[in-house]
Amino acid sequence: MKKFPEGFYWGAATASYQVEGGIENTDWAKAARDGRVPPCGLACDHYHRYEQDFDIARELGHTAHRLSVEWARIEPEEGKFDAEAIAHYRQVLTALHARGLKPFVTVWHFTQPLWFSLTGGFERADAPERFARYAAYVVKELGDLCGHFSTMNEPAVFASNGWLRGSWPPFKRFALTDLVSITNSGRQYEARATKGLAPLFLYLRVMKHLALAHNAAYEAIKKISPQTEVSVVKHVIVFDANWNPFNKLKAFLANYFWTYKFMNRVVRHCDSIGLNYYFYTQFGDKRTWRKTDMDWNFAPEHIFDALMMLSRYKLPLFVSEGGIADAADTGRAEYIRRQVEGTYLAIRAGADVRGHMYWSLLDNYEWALGFAKRFGLVAVNYETQERTIRPSAYVYKKICEANAIVE
Ligand code: FCB
Repeated sequence: MKKFPEGFYWGAATASYQVEGGIENTDWAKAARDGRVPPCGLACDHYHRYEQDFDIARELGHTAHRLSVEWARIEPEEGKFDAEAIAHYRQVLTALHARGLKPFVTVWHFTQPLWFSLTGGFERADAPERFARYAAYVVKELGDLCGHFSTMNEPAVFASNGWLRGSWPPFKRFALTDLVSITNSGRQYEARATKGLAPLFLYLRVMKHLALAHNAAYEAIKKISPQTEVSVVKHVIVFDANWNPFNKLKAFLANYFWTYKFMNRVVRHCDSIGLNYYFYTQFGDKRTWRKTDMDWNFAPEHIFDALMMLSRYKLPLFVSEGGIADAADTGRAEYIRRQVEGTYLAIRAGADVRGHMYWSLLDNYEWALGFAKRFGLVAVNYETQERTIRPSAYVYKKICEANAIVE
């Protein structure tokens, strides 16, 4: 039996905008009103159904849960904080504790309040201070109910989709064409982006501001709550290469620009690092890969490489996301097993991994792709809000309960 360390955390992740429903004062809600991305609407109505959802997580053997709080609910106007939003999240965290689930809270997961995005968002020179003020407020209000906060989710994904590809707000595109079109459930969403050379410089500026924002948030949090564990959640793409030295150079540069450059800027302000793993790609690869519903390579075991890449920072790690869109649920059990196996091997190879959170507990709003992609351990019927546990969730449950890969 492949045993995990004692006290290892098992669970799943969600993010506020993708599951809660009813959030209208964000850049994404505005983009949906402008017809540039699919509307999010009620999503999973998790805002009202979190207790039921956490009951399911407990039933599935989870001992931890990663969620995010919504900046636009907590700070709907610049510098004005909403006591009701805090009261809500206090209830959410209390509900987790009541079920024996350790919360991992992400302070900000992609969506921004309109007051911030309309005035430049992370292009703003004062973005790091604005962000740090918000992050510190969250920890001041919720820190007694949660010992672990991640400042932000996937900075490189956020900035590259918003400022290089132009497929996410604020739709700026480093390209010669301005049209990003996405077909979703038979409907065509066309986001006309601002094209040209400028987005590249803005992307670099945003990446820098995100690193500064993390560092400022870390310091602000530590000032009021030194014992709180603070991490960043990093999306790692494993760029690999075949034998060809030119391809090896490409992979080296890609890993540097996607992962290490940002990590080098923030690692001195991290108590631990969360890994989101979805992609393995090899330059010079001749294989034909089996694909997930996202059309991504089915390569869960390469989470091993991603964890080894981050282990160079000599900090505790946890898998904050990793999972598969698989509406038919025919590949998820195998995917999870191989992903967990990769994590196990990384621990054996010396990575200090403390927990594993599958993405996601529930089917949810998959950003520009709307509701078509199904990542959940639990299926959601968006008409009735009915939850159905998928068979693969029970395979994961066995692992969680045994704290081991059971044969
Ligand atoms: C990650 C995001 C998460 C989800 C998964 C599929 O990049 O953090 O919100 O959309 O991808």
